[in-house]
This record gives sequence, structure tokens and C-alpha cells, in this order.
Amino acid sequence: MLNNPQIKEGTKVLCVIGHPIEHSMSPVMHNAALKELALDYIYLAFDVPPRALETTVLGFKKHDIKGINITIPHKETIMQYLDQIDPLAKNIGAVNTVKNINGILIGRNTDAYGAKKALIDAGCIIRDKKILILGAGGAARAISFALSENIAEIIVCNRTERRAIELAKDLSDKMNIAATGKDMSKETLKTLTNDADIVINTTPIGMYPVVKKSPIPKELLNDHLFVYDIIYNPIKTQFLKDATEIGCKTLNGIDMFINQGALAFEWWTDKKPNTILMKEKIIEILGKK
Ligand SMILES: NC(=O)c1ccc[n+]([C@@H]2O[C@H](COP(=O)([O-])OP(=O)(O)OC[C@H]3O[C@@H](n4cnc5c(N)ncnc54)[C@H](OP(=O)(O)O)[C@@H]3O)[C@@H](O)[C@H]2O)c1
Repeated sequence: MLNNPQIKEGTKVLCVIGHPIEHSMSPVMHNAALKELALDYIYLAFDVPPRALETTVLGFKKHDIKGINITIPHKETIMQYLDQIDPLAKNIGAVNTVKNINGILIGRNTDAYGAKKALIDAGCIIRDKKILILGAGGAARAISFALSENIAEIIVCNRTERRAIELAKDLSDKMNIAATGKDMSKETLKTLTNDADIVINTTPIGMYPVVKKSPIPKELLNDHLFVYDIIYNPIKTQFLKDATEIGCKTLNGIDMFINQGALAFEWWTDKKPNTILMKEKIIEILGKK
């Protein structure tokens, strides 16, 4: 590793952990920004199966790993090994970013901020809108909590209806908003797509390599919908292709990914990364696929 000119004695380490991890774009994005700012850090990716999570986190504490991103399947289970968790991440029930301050591990959720900023930057008006969220996993929780201010209603549809109902209950209890949980059948989606203003896909349906699938059949889409798919590989999913053809405004998951990464970067290093460079690097790689 010391043959790598970016790594010297004392170079600080940042990383992402997940299982599997080889497709993560985080190292490309962070290392490009670190290099441009000439910061003495390296960002690595570690494949950590669930049984190795506890020992890995203890190792990070001991070896002074400065910052950690957490991806599937550890965003919820890592919480039990942290020393402090910020209130939003606690409400969401998931942590995707950890900072190590002298052996004290602090967790927060930057996915929530990343998704909301991306929607606002894309010109989507959230105030008083009816938002349909597909999926009830970690990303759905982060996004629905982030958007739970001054909206008309959130409806969560999930393959496992029970989890949609649980998330909706959490949203109404903790955020005091109108929220309902439902199944994800065609019949349910048909009524909801007529009624909603914004639809957000947080399921992996349509993600590489099964790219021809879409969470909502094209015939159920309406041109008044703002369609947001947080998948970024492929850059334009089948769902977004169908929505564009119908005439909907659309947004993909790249900006959410950049925003969550940029907030983590700034928290770890106290420096603002070049988000244009980060995006270029990701598109360069995804474009080749
Ligand atoms: N752009 C970004 O920055 C960003 C950030 C985070 C995540 N993501 C993307 O968001 C997606 C979900 O991530 P996550 O962390 O929320 O995962 P997760 O916690 O595992 O949740 C996955 C959700 O999708 C549903 N689902 C999975 N496979 C399905 C299928 N075949 N049909 C219908 N529903 C299905 C699950 O339903 P059940 O409850 O029935 O299992 C669950 O609600 C992934 O594609 C991930 O890459 C993007």
C-alpha cells in the first residue's frame, strides 16, 4: 500500500463498510475530492459481513479510523456499537456516517439531508404536497423523516405491508404528520398515483443489473407527478425513462449520493469538497457500464 503515492506514514483513513461492497462509488468520489484539496487522507472500502461488524467497529476505534460510511446491510445494526447518535438518525433508526473523535464514535444520517437537498435543488416544491414513497427500508425512513415538514401527507407503499404501516406510524408519532402505510399492489398504486404529487422510489427495483424492471407500470403514471428514483446505477432507470416519456418531471439518485457524501466529507475534514468533480468522477464510471 505504501507504493501508493497518496498513502504516507500518518495518512488518515476514511472508509465505507458494507456487504457486498465492490460496487460502491464512495471511494472514487471521496478520493478525487481529497486529492484535489491535497488532504492527507485515503478513503478505502471494506467488505464486512454482518458477523464481523462488532469487531470491525472496535478495530476502527482502536486504529483511529477517522470517518466511516455505512451501507447495506449495516445502517441499523451499527447503531448499537456507537457512543453517540444524533437525534435525526435516532428517529430514522439508521446511521450512514460515523466520525471518530479520539475513540468516541458519533453517528448521524446524511442520506436524509442528501435526498431533500437534491429534490429542492431540482426545483421540486415539497410544501403541502402529497408524497408517495415506495419501499420502507433504511433509505425510505431517511427520506420520509427528512421531508416530514409542512407537507400534506406521506403514503408509504411496501412489498411487506407491515413495514410500511410501521414506518407510517413512526412518522405520525414522532413527526406529527399525516402518514399511511399500504401494500405495493397494482390496485393500490393505481389510486395513489392519481392522487399523489411526488413519487419516490427507494426500492432496488430497476437497479443494475436487473435494469428493465420498474416499481410502477408505465400505464399507472400521470404527467402531473414529480418522479424521483434514488437509484443511480443506471443513471436513468426504466422508471425514469417511462416517467419522462409520459411527461413527468424526474430526478435520479446521483445528487442524493453526492450530497450525502459531501456532508460527510465536510464533517470529517472541515473542508468543503468539490461536488462538481465528485459528480464527474461518478458519471465517468457509470457511463462506461
Ligand atoms: N442515491 C443514494 O444516495 C442512495 C442512498 C441510499 C440507498 N440508495 C438506494 O436505495 C435502495 C434501497 O436502499 P435501502 O438502504 O433502503 O435498502 P433496504 O433497507 O434493504 O430496503 C429495501 C426496501 O426495498 C424493498 N424491496 C427490496 N427488493 C424488492 C423487490 N424485489 N420488490 C419490491 N420491493 C423490494 C424492501 O421491501 P421489504 O420490506 O418487503 O423487504 C425494502 O422496503 C437501494 O437501491 C440503494 O442503492 C440510494
